[in-house]
Amino acid sequence: MRQEFLTDVIDGLSKKPKSLPSKYFYDETGSQLFERICALDEYYLTRVELRLLASIRHELAVAIGPNAAIIEPGAGAGIKIQTLLETLESPSFYAPLDLSEDFLLRSARAVRQRFPLLPIVPLIGDFTQAMHWPKPDDINRRVVFFPGSTLGNFESDDAMSFLKKMRELIGSEGALILGVDMVKAIAMLEAAYDDREGVTETFNKNLLVRINNELGGNFDTDRFSHKAFFNEEASRIEMHLESRVDHEVKIDGHRFKLGKHERIHTENSHKFTLESIHGLARRAGLVCRKHWLDEQKLFSIHFFESNEFHSR
Ligand code: AVJ
Repeated sequence: MRQEFLTDVIDGLSKKPKSLPSKYFYDETGSQLFERICALDEYYLTRVELRLLASIRHELAVAIGPNAAIIEPGAGAGIKIQTLLETLESPSFYAPLDLSEDFLLRSARAVRQRFPLLPIVPLIGDFTQAMHWPKPDDINRRVVFFPGSTLGNFESDDAMSFLKKMRELIGSEGALILGVDMVKAIAMLEAAYDDREGVTETFNKNLLVRINNELGGNFDTDRFSHKAFFNEEASRIEMHLESRVDHEVKIDGHRFKLGKHERIHTENSHKFTLESIHGLARRAGLVCRKHWLDEQKLFSIHFFESNEFHSR
């Protein structure tokens, strides 16, 4: 774990331009900071998606049908899934998947308290393991639930291979429910990633703190500014940490020079249109049967099935 983190950090900081993988945001502190982001005025995503999900939950339950096995990659605090679970007709089990054991067990516990009779199968690790599960007769179909616009964090190649893996995981009879953030007015997008309170700034800089704590780095976070802007051509919010001065940092015996104004690219968060998300999914073998938007068209939820689906 540490070795992989170290290798990724050394690789990223040796590149030109420098970058760090966004998946490392989520240590204990980072996950807590993200929860605080979700409650910010400017960060409309979570609020809008939750409200939308609540308003369409009966339609979703009908589309899913009875006895479904629900799989949630990267299950977070477990709030969104509860909205879905309470509406479904006799779900057969719930399988949250996460790399972080702490987070996984916490969300499994929250769901268990509310749905004591529902079997919960927490899976630590990678979703590829779930592909080899047996399919008992009383499971009607596998349904992957992937809200939060997390797909937006992937580069387009990775988004494509993720969707293909999900298509494989659900098989020809399953379904994928995807939450996706939409392209919108730039000011609104940028405010969501550069809030007045500076929580997102702290979240961004926590990556450096984590490198200091876990890899023995000597980053001084005061030497960096938080930058977040919409890259229109690539249709994504980019987050960077920009060096305020010429300086050098050391990590585990490696040295890295940072020029004044030089940036470390820390995250991409892609924004979609209906055409772009449906096109991407179609190329991965997924057909959109139904989608929903909130009134202001800020956020969307999509119900995909395999292009080989045949209802029995
Ligand atoms: C958890 C990936 C959906 O991209 O909006 C929030 C992460 N980064 N503020 C996003 C994030 C900065 C978030 N996702």
